[in-house]
Amino acid sequence: MLNKFYITTPIYYVNAAPHIGHSYTTIAADVLSRFKRRQLGPEHVHFLTGTDEHGQKIQKAADSAKLSAQSFVDQTSQKFRNLWQSLNVSYDDFIRTTESRHIKVVQKSLDILFKKGDIYEGKYEGLYCTPCETFWLEAQAVGGLCPDCQRPVERIVETNYFFKLSKYQDWLLKYLNEHPDFIKPASRYEETLRFLELNKLNDLCISCPKERLNWGIPLPFAPEHVTYVWFDALVNYISAVGEFDEKGEYHSDWWPAELHLMAKDILRQHTVYWPIMLHALNIDLPKAVFAHGWWMINEDKMSKSRGNVVNPLEMVEKFGLDAYRYFLLREVPFGLDGNFSEERIIKRYNSDLANDLGNLVYRTLTMVEKYFNGEIPDLVLSGSSKSVEDILAKIKHLPVRVNLSLDEINFSQALEAIWEVIGMANKHVEETKPWNLAKENKQEELKEFIRLLIDVIRAVAGQLEIFIPQTALSIQEQFKGDRVKKGNPLFPRIETKKK
Ligand code: MSP
Repeated sequence: MLNKFYITTPIYYVNAAPHIGHSYTTIAADVLSRFKRRQLGPEHVHFLTGTDEHGQKIQKAADSAKLSAQSFVDQTSQKFRNLWQSLNVSYDDFIRTTESRHIKVVQKSLDILFKKGDIYEGKYEGLYCTPCETFWLEAQAVGGLCPDCQRPVERIVETNYFFKLSKYQDWLLKYLNEHPDFIKPASRYEETLRFLELNKLNDLCISCPKERLNWGIPLPFAPEHVTYVWFDALVNYISAVGEFDEKGEYHSDWWPAELHLMAKDILRQHTVYWPIMLHALNIDLPKAVFAHGWWMINEDKMSKSRGNVVNPLEMVEKFGLDAYRYFLLREVPFGLDGNFSEERIIKRYNSDLANDLGNLVYRTLTMVEKYFNGEIPDLVLSGSSKSVEDILAKIKHLPVRVNLSLDEINFSQALEAIWEVIGMANKHVEETKPWNLAKENKQEELKEFIRLLIDVIRAVAGQLEIFIPQTALSIQEQFKGDRVKKGNPLFPRIETKKK
């Protein structure tokens, strides 16, 4: 398909419930999908998300929930789906790694690479903590003890299968040098390049004996082993949208993806393992990988073990869905880390949503009712003064500015452009003092003035559709046709107690 846009989020682990970090990537992907649907038409966009359901952590979580692995993953995977629905996420497909369409493609990939000699049998040796079921590096297991549970680790040697990453290191370096746009933002590109220049890649252990882990996809050529999670997980991006034929050629209407979106924690898997796997399979590479930053809590990483995980639904209940979406997209430039706190949400909410946007909409509705009986003045504006001219020019350029920002995957910049227009319009109200125009019975001027505000609001709502669809729709409903329909204030101010 020409002019298509295939975008993915990571498939999330189902060992725990989703938190704000997961929702961040998925909402960002939702915004880009809505943007591209508008640009290319809905049938040209494919937005994939899903869940990563195999491996030790998940097996363990199922054991402690006293459920079979299958019913455990069925339940938690559903939690992700429900969350995306509550957050108004417009995904086109949801892949689970326990589905047969996925297992088939993983096994075929393994088979092709094994026959080609890119997967080989070898010995894996390492320090292992049996109770924690985890391998540790020498440097981690200080004094021969497991860093997690402090019990002694054992040196174990087992037969495993390895993928020849090392064979493709030079190829990958050359590819990256020729494709500086493959990894975004630029700082992540540099980081990956440095890593490959300074380190020799080890081959990747891609299997685990079934006696240590049962919950996984069996290797087709060694069924007493299952494939290790990353080899399983990454393949979701191609298993969701295509298949191999008998000759081992991969076919898909959507592949290659235009964009894989994720946070920086899994950059290397996506910029080293994945490109090499695809190249070895003779499949095109995705066009770009974007790794954004982390949401932190009081400068600390969010994690289940630290007990500081924030539930997105709780935030939505407190502040509303669109305030939550807006905050995530506006507060931090995409790519950088940010601190998440309710105080910061409230600050953004009160200043940008209540004071700026909400106020503009509400005061305009009130004036249309008061001065024009709710009727929207029907006239085409021309710049009658410098400030009117400026505002009209701003509205005209707004779509271009938003498009350019989103082409660069810069959400906060796009929103800033929209808020610039909102700010100008509010300033214009204060400077024009419409109540005086009314007093002096300057009907024509008042008409022009109101009409300008309505044109601003319609332009703004048209752009907000991508970011905060519910709010945009509500504004559009209130200003549809030739009469306004005033609803409740969009974002009533949140009063905070003074210290
Ligand atoms: N299952 C793997 C991904 C396989 S993709 C082929 C995995 N899952 S995960 O559940 O741990 O999700 C990691 C992703 O969740 C991050 O890359 C990011 O998209 C999102 N985030 C998790 N915590 C986050 C923050 N604290 N902040 C921002 N995003 C975060 O890794």
